[in-house]
Amino acid sequence: MTTAVENPTNVATAARLLLVDDDPLITRSLSEFLRLEGYQVDTATDGSSAIAMLAANRYNLVLTDVNMPRTNGLELLRTIKNHYPDVVVLVITGYGTIENAVEAVKMGAFEYLTKPIIDDEIRVTIQKALKQQTLLSENFQLKQQLNMRYGLDNIVGHDYKMLKIFDLVEAVADSRTTVLMTGESGTGKSLIARAIHHRSPRKGKPFVEVSCGSIPETLLESELFGHVKGSFTGATYDKQGRFLAASGGTIFLDEINSASPAFQVKLLRVLQERKFEPVGSNQTISVDVRVILASNQDLAKLVEEGSFRQDLYYRVNVVNIILPTLRQKLGDIPLLAESFLKKFVTEMDKKIGGFTPEAMDMMMRYTWPGNVRELENAIERAVVLTKRPLITPEDLPQQVIDAQPKASGGGEVTQDAGFGTQDFVWTPMPLKQAIEGPEKAILLAALKANQWNRQATAQQLDINRTTLYKKMKHYGLDLPDGVSDE
Ligand SMILES: Nc1ncnc2c1ncn2[C@@H]1O[C@H](COP(=O)(O)OP(=O)(O)OP(=O)(O)O)[C@@H](O)[C@H]1O
Ligand SMILES: [Mg+2]
Repeated sequence: MTTAVENPTNVATAARLLLVDDDPLITRSLSEFLRLEGYQVDTATDGSSAIAMLAANRYNLVLTDVNMPRTNGLELLRTIKNHYPDVVVLVITGYGTIENAVEAVKMGAFEYLTKPIIDDEIRVTIQKALKQQTLLSENFQLKQQLNMRYGLDNIVGHDYKMLKIFDLVEAVADSRTTVLMTGESGTGKSLIARAIHHRSPRKGKPFVEVSCGSIPETLLESELFGHVKGSFTGATYDKQGRFLAASGGTIFLDEINSASPAFQVKLLRVLQERKFEPVGSNQTISVDVRVILASNQDLAKLVEEGSFRQDLYYRVNVVNIILPTLRQKLGDIPLLAESFLKKFVTEMDKKIGGFTPEAMDMMMRYTWPGNVRELENAIERAVVLTKRPLITPEDLPQQVIDAQPKASGGGEVTQDAGFGTQDFVWTPMPLKQAIEGPEKAILLAALKANQWNRQATAQQLDINRTTLYKKMKHYGLDLPDGVSDE
């Protein structure tokens, strides 16, 4: 063994290592050796405690055994690759479990070492791995900067539909162009409206939001344009309207689809001339405001049905931003989920490292009728309720759990398994990656239908057992508790 003084690399001196093994003899002797090598070393006896420690501390490298109780080394590796992509992993395997080691490298482990561990071998491997970690970490930081470029302020999205929207926001922000936003409830219309205002030269001036659908028709006009004292019963003083309040800034008229015909006429005038008269007054007021409108229904259709004025439609439909439903941007679910998790974990000062693969799968399959708002609420609830280091399926709302596919008795996967052609939403990615979701669902359905008998499942799928084992390992499809290894 060498001492810290002889340690040749600067990278290594500052590095913090997490050593995971259920054998206390190994953790003790190895951590002693590594500390003498100049590293900071923490130890854990199983994958679950390691995940909790990863959530609480920053590590450069994790050195893990494969066979451990609770969460094993490969599951730990998967979690690290998903949630801490800049942490490098070395896997230690016992004699005769080389298959696991190969699998681990395929899953992204830097290297594997076999027991018994030889000092020189581990020393060199750790030094190499830490060099790799420095690269990973730089790469990760670059990616985060890119995320900031693509995620507008606090708006998260990688889906190309969202990227196009971000470009549109950038393009229109500088001008006074009227923007119409269409999208279901909870898709982010209000958020984007604010983003446009904050990116515009008007950002120092007021942003005034009016929910047209929630103000009684009789009051809407006075709310927006103001009124003079005595103009109607109850008008006991002069009131400044919201248009004037937004002077120099932006007014956001939400739920514009619910505007009455009479109000539509008034709106048309103010959009055309930026002029209006308060209720009960002859005085014409001019304002400089940017108008952003939102509708949760297709206005073109309302024009066809005769409930929305065509001339007003042409006026408001200068730039139309159509927000996709969450279902139409499936690829953004993990990104949004992680970002909400980070937000609530910080707010509530909890230690949660991420989601189990099962919980993430469930979220990917659910339809989210309430869109991003529903997802945000689900994550907030999970963060409040969970006592575990990762969010598991049990922490998700009942409707998300209930919506999961059930395996049919035969060899088929039912339509509600989440990849029927009619609800398959395309996010650009390599075919190999795209096939993984359906393949995992098929394997799971087949295994369940055969009570996890792998011989029978392999036969039905017409693949050999080894292939099935490999795929199960790849997708983390472990035998449920109570099912014995054949
Ligand atoms: N891309 C996104 N990134 C981060 N948060 C988002 C995103 N889209 C929506 N949200 C969040 O989801 C919630 C709902 O968004 P928002 O209020 O903008 O939806 P909306 O379309 O205006 O809904 P409604 O029609 O019900 O008014 C908000 O808390 C918002 O911050
Ligand atoms: Mg809104």
